Amino acid sequence: MTTLTHETSALSQSYIDREDRYGAHNYHPVPVVLERGEGVFLWDVEGKKYFDFLSAYTAVNQGHCHPRIIRAMITQAQKLTLTSRAFHNDLLGKCEEYMATLFGYDKVLMMNTGVEAVETAMKLTRKWAYMVKGVEENKARILFAGNNFHGRTLSVISASTDPSARAGFGPFMPGLGTVPYDDIKALEEALASDPDIAGFFVEPIQGEAGVYVPADDYLSEVARLCRKYNVLFVADEIQTGIARTGRMLATCGNCHCSSGTCRQPQDVKPDILILGKALSGGTMPVSAVLADDRIMLNIKPGQHGSTFGGNPLACAVAMEALQVVLDEDLATNAEKMGVIFRDGLRKIAQKYPLIKLVRGKGLLNAIVIDSDEESTLAWDFCMEMKDNGLLANYPWQQNQVGSSAGH
Ligand SMILES: Cc1ncc(COP(=O)(O)O)c(C=O)c1O
Repeated sequence: MTTLTHETSALSQSYIDREDRYGAHNYHPVPVVLERGEGVFLWDVEGKKYFDFLSAYTAVNQGHCHPRIIRAMITQAQKLTLTSRAFHNDLLGKCEEYMATLFGYDKVLMMNTGVEAVETAMKLTRKWAYMVKGVEENKARILFAGNNFHGRTLSVISASTDPSARAGFGPFMPGLGTVPYDDIKALEEALASDPDIAGFFVEPIQGEAGVYVPADDYLSEVARLCRKYNVLFVADEIQTGIARTGRMLATCGNCHCSSGTCRQPQDVKPDILILGKALSGGTMPVSAVLADDRIMLNIKPGQHGSTFGGNPLACAVAMEALQVVLDEDLATNAEKMGVIFRDGLRKIAQKYPLIKLVRGKGLLNAIVIDSDEESTLAWDFCMEMKDNGLLANYPWQQNQVGSSAGH
């Protein structure tokens, strides 16, 4: 196979070199240096325009620099940005009520990054196990799906099955286990074999694993089994949530978004819902954990928190970011555009056997290319697309180019 060469201009290279010189080498980005974004478009430092097909891993579902979200952010930033949780602020309750009502939960716990929200949900799950389920102290276990991606902290990578995420970072957090994704039988066996399992954490579609879409009844079966074995069903919708997959939530059915396009029956409602990324329209880190009182109220003052979690700036931004999704009916748009997009790609795939499979839901999509694990073909694909004005990426688990292209 011929190796493709891709030119990087001297100007772009100067930015890349500076990052390389002064920044940690924990990423291997596509060599494009971006300086402006608007809607679905990005521009690099040379003024070249790109379609953004990655959307910051779904953090900018509302489009780059959405004017309403930016306006809400500026207005609030000029008034009050941070109080810490030592005091009340005038927007936290309003934002919590807004989210709790919209998504159909009693309570909301706001954090900042996605992984912090996952950690929060893990703590909440353990607390519930001891306070409600009656698991003996320090015996609770949490199950995760194999090939998961929930972030990069030590406890979260302790549940990872990706060797590159874990190597050199042990010892790992005890009390965690995995079962294969999209495998109901394996999940039932695991749940039946251990009464100390407190929760099952799962992505409704595994984004970072390559937009892996499970069987249609997977989530409803997960919900059923969790109920049967008195285990919390915890949905990490940090990537799938907030209109990306053609519904407000990929576990939709429980939110009150009134889009009328819900896919899931009511009983798929997760016990704990984790949101992040597009919760701020990509303007700042805002994440949230939602649950009913029977779970949330087990955490008492002093047992969990964050200086920035629930700050007034985040609250103003999150409410506007969600309202934009509703007002512009972005879930329906993602559903429609996704069908057109996948149909088009499948037609192309018929002509090019290199494209083995096109999969996804709404505007969370992937193509599977016919290459072996050692190949750099996926990288070459991304580079070719970049040269043609389209930015996309490929799963971290298949990255053979650098130490970590994920996030
Ligand atoms: C499903 C899922 N969970 C958690 C995270 C971690 O979010 P963050 O990078 O904001 O910590 C990500 C990030 O890609 C994700 O896709």
